[in-house]
Parts: sequence; C-alpha cells; structure tokens
Amino acid sequence: MKGIILAGGLGSRLQPLTLITNKHLLPVYNKPMIYYPIEKLVEAGIDDIVLVTGGSYAGDFLRLLGNGREFNLSHINYVYQKGEGGIAEALGLCEHYAKNDSIAVILGDNIFEDSIKNAVAEYAKTNTGGKIFLKEVHDPQRFGVAELKGEKVVGIEEKPKTPKSNYAVTGIYIYDAEVFDVIKTLKPSGRGELEITDVNNHYIRKNAMKYEFMKGWWTDAGTFESLFHASELVANSLNNK
Ligand code: DAU
Repeated sequence: MKGIILAGGLGSRLQPLTLITNKHLLPVYNKPMIYYPIEKLVEAGIDDIVLVTGGSYAGDFLRLLGNGREFNLSHINYVYQKGEGGIAEALGLCEHYAKNDSIAVILGDNIFEDSIKNAVAEYAKTNTGGKIFLKEVHDPQRFGVAELKGEKVVGIEEKPKTPKSNYAVTGIYIYDAEVFDVIKTLKPSGRGELEITDVNNHYIRKNAMKYEFMKGWWTDAGTFESLFHASELVANSLNNK
C-alpha cells in the first residue's frame, strides 16, 4: 500500500497566518502540522509516500522535509497541485505514482490519536473497495457526515445544514486503484471543487465501502479554533505519557 498526503489548497480560512507560508507548515504544538500525517503513515508501516502541495511556498516542504530522514524514510515523492480544485483533484494527480496499488490517503490538516496500523493490515487482506473512519462530533455541519443504517454506511453529505447524524467522516481514506477512474467521472461541486465525498458515495453506491469508528481524539486544524485545539490535544497527550 502506498501513502498519499494532501497538503495543497490555499489555507484562506487561516489568513493572515497563511499569507507568507503554507497552512501545513504552521506549528501544531511542538512540530509543523505536516509532520503528523507523515508520522501516522510511517507508524502504520507505509514508507512509500507522496505529498501533494501547491501555492507559492511548495518549495518550503522540500527544505523542511528533504528526503524524509527525520521519519526514517529513504525518500519522499512530491506532486504539485496548481490552484485548489479540491481534495479529489489533488488525489487524482497521484495516479501515475500509485500505479495499481491500493492507497492510504491523509488530509494534511487532520491530526489523529489512533494508529491506522490494524486497519491497513485488515484492508491488505482483500485490497478492494474503500474504507472511511468516522468520529462522533458536536459540530457535524463542518464536515462530511455519514448516514448509517445497521452495519452499513448508506450515504455521506458534505457539510449539510441539517446533518443526518453526528458522525463526521475524518480525513483518512483507504481505496483500491479504481479510485482514479472514479475521480475522472466527477464534476465540480457548488464550491467549485472535486469532492472526496462524491468519491466516497460512489463506493457506497457500489456496496464497496466499509467504515470504522475512531476511538481516540481527532481534529482538523484548518480554522483558528481547530488549530488551537489541535495544539491543546497534542500537548495534553504528551503530558499524559
Ligand atoms: O477534515 C475532514 C473533512 O475534510 C471531511 O469531513 C470533509 O468531508 C472533506 O471535504 C474535508 O473538508 P474541508 O472542507 O474542511 O477540507 P479543506 O478544504 O480544509 O481541505 C483539507 C485538506 O485537503 C487541506 O489541508 C489540504 C487538502 N487539499 C484541499 C483542497 C481544497 C488539497 O490538497 N487540495 C485542495 O484543492
């Protein structure tokens, strides 16, 4: 399985912090934000990693991360996304790299407590379909929201005004190589982006999507409140060790 980290976008919700740098280079407690998704993949045993970024400060990732020695990697691959056409667009740029392998995708501004090691090992037994990770939240309107029926996920709505549940779809996804064909069929959403939620709904309609709940804490870090909260969560978990 290959690892894909999506760290494009312009981070406009964090201006002026993002006026002269990329969102994913901002600090979350004691490390740059981008360290967390890299560490999450490496901890799960995934060492073949590509990072998608864009904007004016893409070169700073290379300066910071180099070949990934800090993470015991021998190299990191980089892909450039022009503009911010959406999470699914950024993922689609990695087709040449993934070849026919399955992929674990992490959003560069998502920080998780749980390990995905077991989920990755479980997925590798069949290497087919999709897998999402859900977390109960008090503000589901900010996220993709899953509707569950019994053991099944029957649909996901992106930032619904009246959510059908409190189960947010977090920013780790596992897919088979078919995901790149799915992305080619997508149309931009109301916000002008190719949506990862549309990709996930495709797998749901095909009855090929599994889910599990995150047990530990999870947050995004793309707003002032969530960026601050992310630092608090990391600091607390370090202090409790
Ligand atoms: O945080 C989880 C949520 O992330 C999910 O629940 C939603 O379903 C999903 O759409 C996404 O929501 P956001 O609207 O909060 O995503 P955002 O635009 O903040 O992008 C998240 C990351 O994806 C960002 O840190 C970098 C990457 N990205 C985003 C865009 C729009 C790219 O690499 N390229 C892009 O064009």
